[in-house]
Amino acid sequence: MSAVSQNNVITTYRFYAPIYDRLFGRVLEDGRRKMCRLVERLRPVDLLEVGVGTGLTLHRYPAETNITGVDLSQEMLDKAAGRALSPRAGRLELLRMDAEALAFPDNSFDCVAVPYVLSVTPDPDRLVAEIRRVCKPDGHILIVNHFSGSGFWMFFEWVSSRLADRIGFRSTFHYAEHIERHDWQVVSVQNANALGLSKLVHLRNVKHA
Ligand SMILES: C[S@@+](CC[C@H](N)C(=O)[O-])C[C@H]1O[C@@H](n2cnc3c(N)ncnc32)[C@H](O)[C@@H]1O
Repeated sequence: MSAVSQNNVITTYRFYAPIYDRLFGRVLEDGRRKMCRLVERLRPVDLLEVGVGTGLTLHRYPAETNITGVDLSQEMLDKAAGRALSPRAGRLELLRMDAEALAFPDNSFDCVAVPYVLSVTPDPDRLVAEIRRVCKPDGHILIVNHFSGSGFWMFFEWVSSRLADRIGFRSTFHYAEHIERHDWQVVSVQNANALGLSKLVHLRNVKHA
């Protein structure tokens, strides 16, 4: 897997922040919409979104849910903070924080949402360990990501794997390694975005004593 450093994430998203919504807003919206529909059904009291970016999901979360959004990029967070949202009963907090070293106590959240972050964070295993720590036992973890192996996207994956460090994205990213290998419970998996570009994976955070 290609190396992506924390510095690489920060400089990449400093560059993308002013144009992110135009580049990746609509094209990845189906995955966000499906993820937020699941959140609507689950109605968590406290939700953490890691890699909240420019806040493209925020208007879709239930108004009573307390939302904490974290991101490494201050420029992306500034865009999220400037987003006009309808008045909401739940609390909304946006914090600059590394999702691989979360400053929250164990078992803080009913639901953790991870849209399009797992393959851009420097160490996906550390991120998984952290979200599982802060998510309550049997809480919900929702991951939207591209996983390798979908026929149409294989050529694109091969080309972009050569550019990964520069574009801040790992195109070859395997479901078996990053989802199946962990001892959480896979509740459901659905395709999202054009031509099955991404998957939405709903997991239960099984915690062993
Ligand atoms: C592809 S964007 C996705 C943004 C948003 N979730 C969306 O749906 O468009 C990835 C975001 O994750 C953030 N990110 C990557 N690694 C991170 C980490 N370890 N901790 C916090 N944020 C991270 C980046 O700064 C960027 O804003």
